[in-house]
Amino acid sequence: MLCVGGRIASVGTTKDAMKDVWIKKNKKHVSEIDCAGRVVVPGFVDSHTHPAFMNPRLVDFEKRIAGATYEEIAEAGGGIRSSISGVRTASKNALTEMIYASLRQMGRHGTTTVEAKSGYGLSFESEIKSLDAIRAAAHRWPGSVAPTFLGAHVVPVEYRGRSNQYVDLICNEMIPAVAKNNLAKFVDVFCDRGAFSPEDTERIFAAAIKNNLAVRAHLGQLTETRLAPLLRFRPSSLDHMDHVNDADLRPLAESDTVATFVPGANYFLATERYPNARHLIESGVAVALATDFNPGSSPMLSMPMAMSLACTHMKMTPAEAIVASTINGAWALQVADRKGSIEPGKDADLAVFDAADYREIPYWFGVNRCSFTIMNGELSNPAPDEQWH
Ligand code: NIG
Ligand code: FE
Repeated sequence: MLCVGGRIASVGTTKDAMKDVWIKKNKKHVSEIDCAGRVVVPGFVDSHTHPAFMNPRLVDFEKRIAGATYEEIAEAGGGIRSSISGVRTASKNALTEMIYASLRQMGRHGTTTVEAKSGYGLSFESEIKSLDAIRAAAHRWPGSVAPTFLGAHVVPVEYRGRSNQYVDLICNEMIPAVAKNNLAKFVDVFCDRGAFSPEDTERIFAAAIKNNLAVRAHLGQLTETRLAPLLRFRPSSLDHMDHVNDADLRPLAESDTVATFVPGANYFLATERYPNARHLIESGVAVALATDFNPGSSPMLSMPMAMSLACTHMKMTPAEAIVASTINGAWALQVADRKGSIEPGKDADLAVFDAADYREIPYWFGVNRCSFTIMNGELSNPAPDEQWH
């Protein structure tokens, strides 16, 4: 694979690459990375993460171990709301450091493109601060970041009983400011019981589109929501999808919308069942996998771990898991023209694994076998040169 200027120039045998006139002339300036005996895949596209938070939620963790559910904890003042004060009181720099540290860890596990949401500030200032911090962290990281505005994560306490006014604030003030300052590519909504209704979601989607932002939603995590009214807005992705109505599968399959599974949340919340990946795939729906990295439902930032969960608990094949973590993640972020596969013309984003077979990527779990990555042509996090086999 020949990479020039951060892009993949050609893919093939070394012999063929050497015939290239450009290479012949520039041989001295080409640095060679020998990946013999390793597996090279497109860098993972983690299309759903919430890295803009300050603290882990350890009390919630213990409460759940003692038997409380995610929703019970949220109703008692834990959950998303308990992450708000940490973000509101943090400086932009402190938040940037946290996000940057997470991006680096993701990179160590083979991720080269990350979607990063705000959503723990939930006031005008703190949401803008979160998106500013995402932008600052992204600037320092050699991979690529797609920022998402998730002001509609939950209704903050000061708007309790008047959630409509919070939706007004999102639509009339936050979204226009986010768009004007070019702070996000997507607008996301947590549409479910205890968060925002389908009607709220439609209002927020309409405001996003009016401001030229693309839309996506957290959907079907706790309860089923019918898809037809939302598909009209052509969301790039609908995420979680634990509960989906069978009648919605055909319109979903016929749409450009990707269904993104986040099995880390199923694992961590110990939900009774995982999303029905086989049924969606067999219905023709394009599916992606993501970590959903966040402090409440999925403190996991490894795509190989997400893939392992998908294979073992959702019966996806290792090949399907790789597709879902690369090119389909790229579709879910509307960057499939540049990311997600090893093809001439695309960005040079690669993950190199200490493995002899691609199936080992989801097979070994609880251990990081990513040797190094190439992000936009730049060699990143080479581990000590040690092989397992
Ligand atoms: O994707 N469901 C909503 N949002 C996150 C959880 C966020 C949190 O608990 O902090 C999710 O699971
Ligand atoms: Fe999420």
